[in-house]
Amino acid sequence: MSDFLPSFNSLIVTTITNETDNVKTFGLKREDGKSIDYKPGQFVTLSLKNGENEERRSYSFSSCLALNEQASITVKRVDNGTFSRFLHDNVQPGDLLLSSGIGGFFTLPQNTARYKRYVFYAAGVGITPILPMIKALLHENSSTNIVLFYSNSSPIAVLFIDALQQLQQSFEDRFEIEFLYSNAFNLARARLSKSLVRVLLKEYNITEMRDSIFYICGPYSYMRMVTYALQEAGVKPERIHKENFNTTDRINSLPQPPDMQTHTATIHYKQRTHYISVSYPDSILQAARRQGLLLPYSCEVGRCGSCAAICTEGKVWHSYNEVLMDVELKKGCVLTCTGHPVSGDITITI
Ligand SMILES: Cc1cc2nc3c(=O)[nH]c(=O)nc-3n(C[C@H](O)[C@H](O)[C@H](O)COP(=O)(O)OP(=O)(O)OC[C@H]3O[C@@H](n4cnc5c(N)ncnc54)[C@H](O)[C@@H]3O)c2cc1C
Ligand code: FES
Repeated sequence: MSDFLPSFNSLIVTTITNETDNVKTFGLKREDGKSIDYKPGQFVTLSLKNGENEERRSYSFSSCLALNEQASITVKRVDNGTFSRFLHDNVQPGDLLLSSGIGGFFTLPQNTARYKRYVFYAAGVGITPILPMIKALLHENSSTNIVLFYSNSSPIAVLFIDALQQLQQSFEDRFEIEFLYSNAFNLARARLSKSLVRVLLKEYNITEMRDSIFYICGPYSYMRMVTYALQEAGVKPERIHKENFNTTDRINSLPQPPDMQTHTATIHYKQRTHYISVSYPDSILQAARRQGLLLPYSCEVGRCGSCAAICTEGKVWHSYNEVLMDVELKKGCVLTCTGHPVSGDITITI
């Protein structure tokens, strides 16, 4: 897809800023001098050689291209984590990082004026893809109204507090923030729960669900709880956009495709056409790799969208899909990491 860079790119780390004890922001620029193009909410996938293995992780841009901000990612150091510890402990300004692409579907609608209210739920480092979206909306569109519910363990854990408060002051008619702290004395207004979601919807007068669109980013259980609460409040699933940072907990049992025959996948990638034989249980991505074709990927479990492609012929069935919504599936978007050709051969373009 055009959102992906054509091949690996070297990114120079320009700056490193400590946000909190365990969160750092890394400024990035392309080594070839070209600009890094991304939409608010998208992520970059970085690659690291770890012995024989290659590790890939995705990081959302915390910067806003529309405001000419320097491209940057904001990374939380995860205990025992391979990539985040490498970034925190080893990387210095001037170092090169390898990127396999930019992508993601956690983005604003093409016509932002279609919705009057944008409601964002972020927890911890989940603010990273949301901050650029809020900035873009505030600066580009004068009619939208924005509410951010931002949960953290305590006030010192809040990321981008200055930027958020400045935006609130500059756009006080259009931007409201409710900070929530798990360690708050008043338990009724501490950790976000289903009942608190309901209370806040009322308080912020978010009742006309047809005019509103919702974005959620945080731990899996947080996103699930907010999603249920919103659906119970009458929000249609297609209005709820989610970005899942956690791709490590495995899904125990995946369903089998309705057709387990071997089919040919014709893959248009980097101006070349490849013919790959795909046999279950291999997904398209796995079959391609086995046959020497390395396609874009990151999580490999249907949760990030790095492997997205467009299917122009045939049918792709997904064993798991947490990223593509109906509107993208209808356009022919597929995931190669959990996608299997069914009912015949397929043609996809990446
Ligand atoms: C679309 C997307 C956007 C993202 N954006 C951001 C962002 O903006 N900022 C950010 O900080 N993160 C972001 N992430 C998360 C990021 O990609 C990494 O998952 C995160 O940094 C942890 O990676 P790691 O290599 O440090 O940890 P990993 O090595 O992947 O480990 C993660 C955790 O799992 C445990 N673990 C790993 N392997 C095993 C095992 N075999 N057995 C038991 N436990 C294990 C580790 O102990 C650790 O606690 C994003 C993820 C996605 C998918
Ligand atoms: S690689 Fe993450 S969805 Fe396919």
